[in-house]
Amino acid sequence: MSSDLSSSDQAKFVAAKRACEFVKDGMKLGLGTGSTASWMVRCLAERVDKEGLRVKGVPTSIQTSNLAEELGIEIITLGAAGQLDLTIDGTDEFDQDLNLIKGGGGALLREKIVASASDKMIVIADDDKNVERLGRFPLPVEVLGFGLKSSQSLIQTLLESQDVGSNIIKTRMVGEVPFVTDEGNYILDLYLDQIGDADMLNLALNQVPGVVENGLFVGHCDMVIVGSSDGTVKEKIKGPISKL
Ligand code: A5P
Repeated sequence: MSSDLSSSDQAKFVAAKRACEFVKDGMKLGLGTGSTASWMVRCLAERVDKEGLRVKGVPTSIQTSNLAEELGIEIITLGAAGQLDLTIDGTDEFDQDLNLIKGGGGALLREKIVASASDKMIVIADDDKNVERLGRFPLPVEVLGFGLKSSQSLIQTLLESQDVGSNIIKTRMVGEVPFVTDEGNYILDLYLDQIGDADMLNLALNQVPGVVENGLFVGHCDMVIVGSSDGTVKEKIKGPISKL
């Protein structure tokens, strides 16, 4: 499966494959979104097919749902699943405390809901996503279409009182039109350069009227599995992961 891959895909593949080793029979899983998470869906489907592994997955996007269904993974709603055993997802950045910026693919809202409903979260990434301080990647904020400019202006004012390196806000576009999320909302990308206090910014952003959710994942992730193009993986763990 891995012989013809680009070095980037090889790194994503080995991280995804290792993460799938933590999946046990009967688990209810959160299925992340993005190019790395799609490798996880493929590796998981292979285990379902070859080992008869029985799992149920809650996808974090329409894209992931389609792929999982196509590959024979049983899909259920979060409502039917209740609490999940494990979520495996990609990330745009992670720091040494395993805090994350997510949402580059626009699925941060469902991703945060699913991660919050999971006993454990494993993030899969390559080493380029590892940062000393979050903020190099623009922070996605999902905002209602109603009053979008008003919410943007409130966020602009809020950023003046936050410990951030820069404060440029752009509406995410697809060509000439705004990007629309699976939930029918818009994304504002916050170009901050660096974030001094991710916990405070996470809480403050979600107080702004019109903000549905932001891409800071503080305290959600239990383990980051970093894949390399040479086929090796490194595991970064926050605390005991005995439940896995
Ligand atoms: C999706 O909204 C994101 O949170 C992704 O998990 C993140 O952008 C990582 O994507 P890649 O694995 O494609 O880099």
